[in-house]
Amino acid sequence: MSVVLRLDRLTKDFPVGLFGWNTQRALDEVSFELSRGEVFGLLGPNGAGKTTTLKLIIGLLRPTSGHVTVFGGLPGDRAARAALGFLPEHPVFYDHLTAEELLAYFAGLCGISGADRTRRVAQVLDDVGLGDVRRRPMRQYSKGMLQRVGLAQALINEPALVILDEPMSGLDPIGRREVRELILKLRDASRTVLFSSHILSDAETLCSRVAILARGRLMASGAVGDLTAGKVGGWEVIGANLSPAAVAALQARTTRATRIAHGRYTFELREGERPEPFIAAMTGLGGALVSASPTRATLEDVFVEQVS
Ligand SMILES: Nc1ncnc2c1ncn2[C@@H]1O[C@H](COP(=O)(O)OP(=O)(O)O)[C@@H](O)[C@H]1O
Ligand SMILES: [Mg+2]
Repeated sequence: MSVVLRLDRLTKDFPVGLFGWNTQRALDEVSFELSRGEVFGLLGPNGAGKTTTLKLIIGLLRPTSGHVTVFGGLPGDRAARAALGFLPEHPVFYDHLTAEELLAYFAGLCGISGADRTRRVAQVLDDVGLGDVRRRPMRQYSKGMLQRVGLAQALINEPALVILDEPMSGLDPIGRREVRELILKLRDASRTVLFSSHILSDAETLCSRVAILARGRLMASGAVGDLTAGKVGGWEVIGANLSPAAVAALQARTTRATRIAHGRYTFELREGERPEPFIAAMTGLGGALVSASPTRATLEDVFVEQVS
């Protein structure tokens, strides 16, 4: 598989203090690479260094040490820029324009003109679901719609590598689902997508691989399945025929008990606890076992373990 992007011991210090005499390390020797067609998630809590990483990749910042290679060249090279689309974390647009006018402007900046431009603008606005409102001034748009304008802007030059900084943040569940579907469409069209997020469930459903950053360091990276494999999940036991007294006694041994129906409950056992003694206690109290199943460790478990 061809490597689209490579980070090699990438480090960034920012000057801090009144005269900038001191420095703060925002990124510390971070290395990873992306192959063509991957959807890659850059995860981490606020201040972890995600935005700094993305800015170094697109050439908005220069590394203190280490290297970024985009399509074999330096970030900011003409060839790299032409192949790259970027959605900033908080895009701001001149909102007296319509989405169509704004996109036509960006298309022009990318050297797209004439009939090509008209066709491309219409296509990309349709792709992000703004086709119907493209002639309305953007001051009438919701936050989710503005986020989609930002996405359209990132996609106007049909980039081979799409970089999105927190594309789901501030969106409602429907908006998030739409962005997820758009990312999957990009993947199906063989684009490479790198996005940052602190919403782990989105990353879990979308990404082939992820990297977890904390305090500027790469804590873990790899396929989601590999990162979660071998982690201890808990057990979930479902019981029936349970009296209120039995539920109360059993509940004390669990992290959560949820009522499903009359006398029927789901119990989540504490991490690392085997289900057999719990089941014995339950049957001893007159309950009947319906099922017992291990719960899979999630990306969230890995994340919490790595960043805390
Ligand atoms: N221009 C800057 N000047 C000084 N410090 C910065 C600058 N940009 C980011 N930082 C610091 O670098 C660290 C990483 O920030 P950032 O990359 O924005 O994190 P994230 O996107 O993961 O929330 C933070 O401690 C932040 O305060
Ligand atoms: Mg950020």
